[in-house]
Amino acid sequence: MVRYGRELIVNTAYYIGPEGKAGKFLGNKMNCTNCHLDAGTKPYAFNFYSTHARYPQYRARENKILSLADRVNNCIERPHNGKHMPLNNKEMIAIISYMKWLGENVPVNAHVNGDGPIKVDFPSRAADPFKGEEVYKRECLSCHGANGEGKMRADNVCYEYPPLWGEKSYQSGSSVHRLIKMAPFVYANMPNKIATYQNPKLTIDEAYDVVAFINNDTIHKRPQPITKTDYASLPNKPIDYDKGPYLDPFSETQHKYGPYKEIVDYYKKIGKKANY
Ligand code: HEC
Ligand code: HEC
Repeated sequence: MVRYGRELIVNTAYYIGPEGKAGKFLGNKMNCTNCHLDAGTKPYAFNFYSTHARYPQYRARENKILSLADRVNNCIERPHNGKHMPLNNKEMIAIISYMKWLGENVPVNAHVNGDGPIKVDFPSRAADPFKGEEVYKRECLSCHGANGEGKMRADNVCYEYPPLWGEKSYQSGSSVHRLIKMAPFVYANMPNKIATYQNPKLTIDEAYDVVAFINNDTIHKRPQPITKTDYASLPNKPIDYDKGPYLDPFSETQHKYGPYKEIVDYYKKIGKKANY
């Protein structure tokens, strides 16, 4: 089951994609490993080392406690624009077995180095989608395409280069649609296999700008979430979520693009922790 779980993370669309051999759950042909790089084992690339040890867990987006299986289904629903797998089907159990195996030595509720985002300072200005477009053309377009559409593999099962926007990409309700979640990932990992977290190719400002461009909903369309009740608990709402209301006086635009330092400072001032 552990081996099958890894296989599912790497060749997700083959098994549970729109034409999946083991069931049709995903709404697109992306693989988990497109974001959870190296089958969820790469530092600062949304890896799964401590994941199993940290669930069940309160999740702000749903405003309730989720099991690990529920959390897997969230990624099937949002980044994969799909529908939930039954909690007890073989593929779900295999994915969770793999995560459990990866995190075998991690104590309950512990974190390990590299399982969160790489720590970088916020840019001192708002991220700029127009500057981001220039970065995109220079550093990303050659693989992800002029229309963010990526490139399918010749066998049409999944992507050689996954899409970044459009109907076949992730939903706007995915965490990757949030700037502070996505920019450090891009900074540490993209261009793929060229940038590393020890030796990034982009500056932090460029990473924020290019993600502002990718996730700009006026320029780019993508599937929308079904639920309209995300982050119902305002004290737990992430500061880079782009829809109000908020507990603070800052605009939706500032929440989407920054600058974030003043938002973080505001929460400090009122004795609360800013979430992101
Ligand atoms: C488009 C990108 C993307 C894809 C594709 C994707 N995920 Fe995720 N996933 C994320 C992001 C971003 C997070 C949040 C990570 C964080 O908060 O640090 C996440 C979080 C998770 C978590 C919670 C991790 C934790 O430690 O709390 C699980 C479990 C998960 N994903 C499973 C999957 C599985 C299984 C698939 C494939 C069926 C998948 N994901 C596909 C982007 C993606
Ligand atoms: C050399 C080709 C290449 C270049 C250039 C490149 N990427 Fe990627 N990118 C990839 C591949 C391949 C993956 C999936 C990795 C995997 O499955 O192991 C990926 C994955 C991603 C993902 C997560 C999956 C998704 O589709 O949402 C994002 C976001 C991303 N790239 C953004 C960027 C940005 C921004 C740039 C420019 C700064 C960039 N990439 C440059 C090849 C590239």
